[in-house]
Amino acid sequence: MAEQKQATWGGRFREGPDPRMVAFSESVSFDKRLAPFDIRGSQAHARMLAHAGLIESDEAEAICAGLDELLDEIAAGKFTWDPALEDVHMNIEQALRGRVPAAAKLHTARSRNDQVATAMRLYFRDAAERLRAALDKLLATLLDQAEATQSVHIPGYTHLQRAQPVSMAHHFLAYAEMFGRDRERFAAFGERANICPLGAGALAGTTLPIDREHTAKLLGFVDAEGEPRLTRNSLDAVADRDLFIEFAAACAICAVHLSRAAEDFILWNSSEFGFITFPDGFTTGSSLMPQKKNPDALELIRGKSARTHGALSTLLTLCKGLPLTYNRDLQEDKPPVFDCLDTTLACLDILEGTLAGARPNPARCAAAVADPLLLATDVADYLVRKGMPFRDAHHAVGALVALAEDKGVPLDKLPDADATAVSPLLTPDWKACFDLRKALEAREMPGMPGPKAVAGEIKAWRGRLGAG
Ligand code: ARG
Repeated sequence: MAEQKQATWGGRFREGPDPRMVAFSESVSFDKRLAPFDIRGSQAHARMLAHAGLIESDEAEAICAGLDELLDEIAAGKFTWDPALEDVHMNIEQALRGRVPAAAKLHTARSRNDQVATAMRLYFRDAAERLRAALDKLLATLLDQAEATQSVHIPGYTHLQRAQPVSMAHHFLAYAEMFGRDRERFAAFGERANICPLGAGALAGTTLPIDREHTAKLLGFVDAEGEPRLTRNSLDAVADRDLFIEFAAACAICAVHLSRAAEDFILWNSSEFGFITFPDGFTTGSSLMPQKKNPDALELIRGKSARTHGALSTLLTLCKGLPLTYNRDLQEDKPPVFDCLDTTLACLDILEGTLAGARPNPARCAAAVADPLLLATDVADYLVRKGMPFRDAHHAVGALVALAEDKGVPLDKLPDADATAVSPLLTPDWKACFDLRKALEAREMPGMPGPKAVAGEIKAWRGRLGAG
């Protein structure tokens, strides 16, 4: 009876597993999403076995055809997953054995340990590609918004206090930088995932004459020259979960960016700021207050980002005390990874949709940026240009600000006589510092918010995205 329940490893058992154990140890409920990657790995393994002369080539072809059929059934939702068979790998192998006699040879020179490591590396390669596509889409929308808001000026903030003027475009481009780094991180991650662990076996390889390089090539685990990339230590190959942690870390960092963007745009959307409005499709109303239009999409992005941080912590904790090599604990490595991908993709997509329909409110932005205090630093720079040491200039402008405050007038309306009294270097032309357009045009060095610099960055980003 044990053989019926657990045909793949039941040989040495006299009794089948307790039903509680079946429910406790199954992973197929979540790892079934690895089916396409498991099947690709198995097909390559079968072809390699034939290439190495360990099975007949018509056996390999029967195995591959049977696996293709199974893949179609799984995709169509017609496959019945059996928790008694534990995981996606054993479910697929068992189903294949019901149809293809040669399937009993598929597991030759392979363990579930190198099998699952391979499936996950294929999964990670694919995940990196999907995230990159989602990031590209978001970046394109950020650039569209930057393009449209080059002459919309807003205060930039430190400590959430108005600091210095920037264009809204420059602010959007700040997020382009952050998501651009995520794009690079996922690309580098995809490269590191691109190594073939098949052949590591359970932990100590195999005595059978397999051809690891052949399998690696079939699965596209190759470098730029087409040379196969193989894991170099069989123990590490099945015990290593660095990629899982790295993936969660990359998602967690991306989620920090998503959450900070969400927070900025929630603030901008509030009545207090009023810089931007969002499309109805990405906002919701209140069940009680008829006037409400809430930025729920952004709040959910900020909230969901927490899941990726939890996932990273789960994975670090999962691995830290494990002896080499494989331990069943490692089955718990998948739910946090899957959640990271789902959450990050969904948040990227929703932020993109919300931003694509966002509209700036130029009047409110102009009112906020008209605050002359935003250009106090430019007055200090004016004094520096006239020869005053910066620390003294900072002090002098501080005195001007205090004076304006005492007199209850805006800084740019302070009488020239008062200014000259603070410093004789403040001749009447000091008020030219308050020309916002000129103030921005004076910031054209690389990375600055000057209009030409910003336009140049938009162009450079378009090039980067176009170059793939
Ligand atoms: N579902 C298992 C996991 O993901 C597959 C590996 C099982 N290996 C083993 N030696 N029991 O961890």
